[in-house]
Amino acid sequence: MKHHGLSEIARRTAEPPIAWLMKLTLDKPGLISLAAGFTDNPSLPVGETAGLLRELLGSPASGPQALQYGSSAGDPLLRQLTAERLQTLDQTPGGETYSPGRVLMTNGSQQLLYLVAECLCDPGDIVLVEDPTYFVFLGTTQTRGLICRGLRIEPDGIDLVHLETTLEELKRQGLLPRLKLLYLVSYFQNPTGATTSFEKKTRALELLKRYERAAGHPIYLLEDAAYRELGFPGVLAPASALAVPGCSGRVIYAGTYSKPYATGVRVGFGILPEPLYTIALRLKGNHDFGTANLLQQLLARALASGAFARHVKGLRERYAAKAAVMVKAVQREFPEKVEWRPPEGGLYLWARLPRRIRSGIQARLFKSAVEREVLYIPGELCYADDAVRPKPNHEMRLSFGGASETNIREGIHRLGAALHDLMD
Ligand SMILES: Cc1ncc(COP(=O)(O)O)c(C=O)c1O
Repeated sequence: MKHHGLSEIARRTAEPPIAWLMKLTLDKPGLISLAAGFTDNPSLPVGETAGLLRELLGSPASGPQALQYGSSAGDPLLRQLTAERLQTLDQTPGGETYSPGRVLMTNGSQQLLYLVAECLCDPGDIVLVEDPTYFVFLGTTQTRGLICRGLRIEPDGIDLVHLETTLEELKRQGLLPRLKLLYLVSYFQNPTGATTSFEKKTRALELLKRYERAAGHPIYLLEDAAYRELGFPGVLAPASALAVPGCSGRVIYAGTYSKPYATGVRVGFGILPEPLYTIALRLKGNHDFGTANLLQQLLARALASGAFARHVKGLRERYAAKAAVMVKAVQREFPEKVEWRPPEGGLYLWARLPRRIRSGIQARLFKSAVEREVLYIPGELCYADDAVRPKPNHEMRLSFGGASETNIREGIHRLGAALHDLMD
């Protein structure tokens, strides 16, 4: 087969499914997208950011420095404030675990996820993921030639029995030396909204540790906390896996300022144990030798001034209100046989249809939704290719992040009509 001289990695990389969905949105101006993981436009902190930038650039001490290159690891003040904030969220003394020296600033947490895969995994290596999981991470695993095994999830996180049987099976098959990572989207998960309990993180780390001897190397827990700050008012988010006693050497924490502050600022971070920290830093040196200094210094000011904390508080209320609009609309418009849970945070509602109703891109439901000018993320896109089970194809992810309240109501109304057409 002709390959135009492209590298193996280039030939492995397929077009992301979301690119096609985005194009559809642009091609049809009347279309209501409940698909994209966009944040709420009217609540983006435009005024606060303009003020902070004026302060930053208005001073001869900070202005030129903010417009200069920074370091690969990131702005020292932002690293310190990030470490402090995490320690406060985790409510633990923590010591060295939360040292700014373990914080690596990245271009969104997406870059951190990619760097981790680059640090740890060769083609043919195995990664355990939630079933379903964040589909962009599945793109990373595909590009890097990794094999995914899906783990069932429950409302409080992965099914630990399934984790253990999967580890046993890999051991029996002599495949444990290829297992590098367990990837969990642990707060208000994309796509299901589930939050992993602290107890489950603790037990998962214990289990991974038990199989390390047979693996011959550490097996890490990669905790993706992208939605951690977006719990609705009154919802308590558990501590991160960094707070599990004695385990911080096996936890990689991926965090972001995209969702809680501004998706357009796109600064994320990782907390990594050695030797991963040093290796990720070297790789980041090759990627871009540092995240934009201006954006990091803007965030440092937002955190230090209290603007960030105020913004997050408002966002939680805003998303809780938008989720309530979606919940009410779904209650009113969807057939009773559709199963779903009210979200407690994050940006998504996950709906499960009776198995006979397919929701994939080729399905009648999806086509009917597009004809009615409403878009959702077909659940199948969120499942890894895993030879051990067929990919479920009867679910949908609905986002209340980007759409206005009017469009949420109208979008769910259109989708409800498409569902009734097929199901009644
Ligand atoms: C679960 C999850 N992780 C990571 C990211 C990446 O976000 P960012 O790169 O903006 O930090 C996203 C974005 O949607 C996400 O949903």
